[in-house]
Amino acid sequence: MFTIDKIIKIFKQELKDLYPISEINSFIEITLNFYLNFSKTDIFTKSDFLTQIADYKLINNVIERLKNNEPIQYILGQTEFYGLKFKVNKNVLIPRQETEELVDWIIKDNSEILNPQILDIGTGSGCIAVSLSKHLNNSNIDAIDISEEALNQAFENSKINNLKINPVKQDILNFEKSNYKFPKYDIIVSNPPYVRISEKKLMHKNVLNFEPNLALFVDDNNALIFYEKILEFAEKHLKLNGKLYFEINEHYGNEAVTLLEKFNFINIILRKDINGRNRMICGQIG
Ligand SMILES: C[S@@+](CC[C@H](N)C(=O)[O-])C[C@H]1O[C@@H](n2cnc3c(N)ncnc32)[C@H](O)[C@@H]1O
Repeated sequence: MFTIDKIIKIFKQELKDLYPISEINSFIEITLNFYLNFSKTDIFTKSDFLTQIADYKLINNVIERLKNNEPIQYILGQTEFYGLKFKVNKNVLIPRQETEELVDWIIKDNSEILNPQILDIGTGSGCIAVSLSKHLNNSNIDAIDISEEALNQAFENSKINNLKINPVKQDILNFEKSNYKFPKYDIIVSNPPYVRISEKKLMHKNVLNFEPNLALFVDDNNALIFYEKILEFAEKHLKLNGKLYFEINEHYGNEAVTLLEKFNFINIILRKDINGRNRMICGQIG
């Protein structure tokens, strides 16, 4: 058995050459909260609390996996997104903060629509679809993905949060061949794969070795393939004045604007994330 104080020392000692201290502190908080239900305050007010051997083993397993660069969200199997709890596994991308910013934009922009019909393309964990379901009243949300495993996880996440989404297995690049009769939507949103294969060398091991390639990468020669195809889809499936929202690769802001213009979208807004990078775009069907 170890005290909390001792466990914190072990975390810091074992991970100090791999992660900045701020990140190690965050791992400690998340892990102790997950296994012992400790709050931030408990961590220092109960520093002499003795862990059970079984708990210590679980915590030590987290440290070992962190040493192997595995993201804490996959180790614990859960994360938080827009204030909701989401289960995650190796078949789904870990939801990112810029995606929360996109969701926040959509919610603030569309709170007035009655019973909005929404489509989330490439839903992954379901983070976008489920959060919109929570915050846009009486919405009806279709969530599509090519991955059956991702769809199962998205559906489970909607149930965990007592919300409703409608999972649809669909390759968006071949939507013409779908058996699903897509309705007309008020809002279409997508955070599609957009990392060019050439960007792999700039990426951290924790992303490259653990997150699903299917969710991340596109060919360098055809980096905007998902955007073009989704625009083609949106032209047919948005209601009049319907809106399209995309998360984008920060290097492709101008190209994304040009593409939306090419498909005759109006009121195009390119938006920066909290770090000042072009990361999202919205347009309205004219
Ligand atoms: C960048 S992830 C986004 C996941 C989630 N929406 C989020 O924001 O965290 C892209 C998602 O698109 C899915 N995807 C990849 N190719 C697809 C295709 N051809 N048709 C539909 N979905 C696809 C992947 O399985 C993955 O879940």
